[in-house]
Amino acid sequence: MIHAKYSHRFLLLISGILIILSSAGWTFAYSSSSSNPKKNNYKSGGEKTTDEVFKNIKVLKGLPASQLNPTMHYFEASLGFDCSNCHVRGHNDSDKKPEKRKARKMIEMMNVINKDNFEGKQIVTCYTCHHGTPDPQKIPAVMTESMMKEQRNENKEDDIIKVPNRLNTPEEIISKYEQAIGGKEAFEKITSLKSEASIINANGRNYQVTIMQKAPNFYYSSIKLPFGQFERGYNGTTGWMKNPRNTEELKDENLQDIKLDADFYAPIDFLKNYSGLKFSDVSVIDGDTVYVVEGKSSDIRSFKFYFDTKSGLLVRQIQFDKTLLGSLQTQTDFKDYRNVSGVLFPFELHVADYERNQDIKFSNISSNATIDNNIFNMPAK
Ligand code: HEC
Ligand code: HEC
Repeated sequence: MIHAKYSHRFLLLISGILIILSSAGWTFAYSSSSSNPKKNNYKSGGEKTTDEVFKNIKVLKGLPASQLNPTMHYFEASLGFDCSNCHVRGHNDSDKKPEKRKARKMIEMMNVINKDNFEGKQIVTCYTCHHGTPDPQKIPAVMTESMMKEQRNENKEDDIIKVPNRLNTPEEIISKYEQAIGGKEAFEKITSLKSEASIINANGRNYQVTIMQKAPNFYYSSIKLPFGQFERGYNGTTGWMKNPRNTEELKDENLQDIKLDADFYAPIDFLKNYSGLKFSDVSVIDGDTVYVVEGKSSDIRSFKFYFDTKSGLLVRQIQFDKTLLGSLQTQTDFKDYRNVSGVLFPFELHVADYERNQDIKFSNISSNATIDNNIFNMPAK
């Protein structure tokens, strides 16, 4: 009964690690030359607006400051750009690069297109035209072998998918999932978890991760990177992250994220934690039929969950995060479910977003191990 949440929780833990990795990259790439004291504000978010926090905002004014950085990632993904294609390193406020000035005009153009044609809804986005490159195609491509194959497969998928004893509501599908992972009672016998995993990047690099969790909402994770150790924790009230340079209390979106990670009983609160749950479709993943259930955890984050129609297990999750100008997605596949004290956990995750593609392999997940509560508290700076 708990299974859905569990796998989901793992995903969030991992996405937390990914967030740390990206903010780490940012800090290391830019901190030396940037002396803007406001630099960190957007990371922790806040009620402050973009133009209050940043120096040179001309079109994305009056919007939540915490949304600026995700929007910049949306630019990267839509155009196949890096920050430095538009920005002078360490001087993001500078308008020196023509690409940045062009991007501003493009935002204005896009807003006009959407206002005039789509009632101001975000229908046409950077990606609609750019498809991951700076030069949108003007001329339709010629048919290639692989496009032909794709077309044939699409035709096949159009066949009506038959599912015996087909379930029809998110409640039924989630209930089947919870049964499949072992059920509520088995889950409630587990009060702490200690896990070891390796994150294997597309380039073959391998990082060790340790995760500790305690009911009802204590959480700690640590990842060893070549330049040091990155930790995140939540002790029921305070969320924090620590890297070799600083220790920071988590706020707003980041605090919400770690609270979700820390929700030990989330697997049995699946229906409670997501609003607007609906069964949207039956689909096929790797030849197996799946139920697709949609729901959202906040105004800017929604999900699609894919449950195997036979085993009932969660096999895929796609998380959609809205930015100011379009959404980004993170896909996680769950594999190799194994029994830990009567509850099935996925020991292998495959996580992909627009710039990363990683395998996460758990070598060990142990239940009810003794964990010192101190580890969940924010370390002294
Ligand atoms: C396609 C071009 C483009 C890319 C790629 C891009 N940016 Fe930007 N960025 C902009 C534009 C345009 C603005 C100004 C928006 C405005 O005026 O409303 C901006 C503003 C900013 C600001 C605010 C600076 C200030 O103080 O005024 C920051 C910080 C920033 N970008 C960081 C980044 C980071 C980090 C990345 C990479 C993850 C990135 N950007 C990628 C175009 C880009
Ligand atoms: C309606 C289609 C369309 C949309 C929407 C659109 N673009 Fe463009 N963009 C273009 C075209 C076409 C070009 C190439 C123009 C040319 O060849 O001179 C371009 C060029 C650019 C360039 C210059 C690239 C270079 O190589 O110098 C940047 C930067 C850019 N767009 C950013 C954006 C951003 C950021 C968004 C979203 C806010 C966006 N565009 C949305 C069509 C679009």
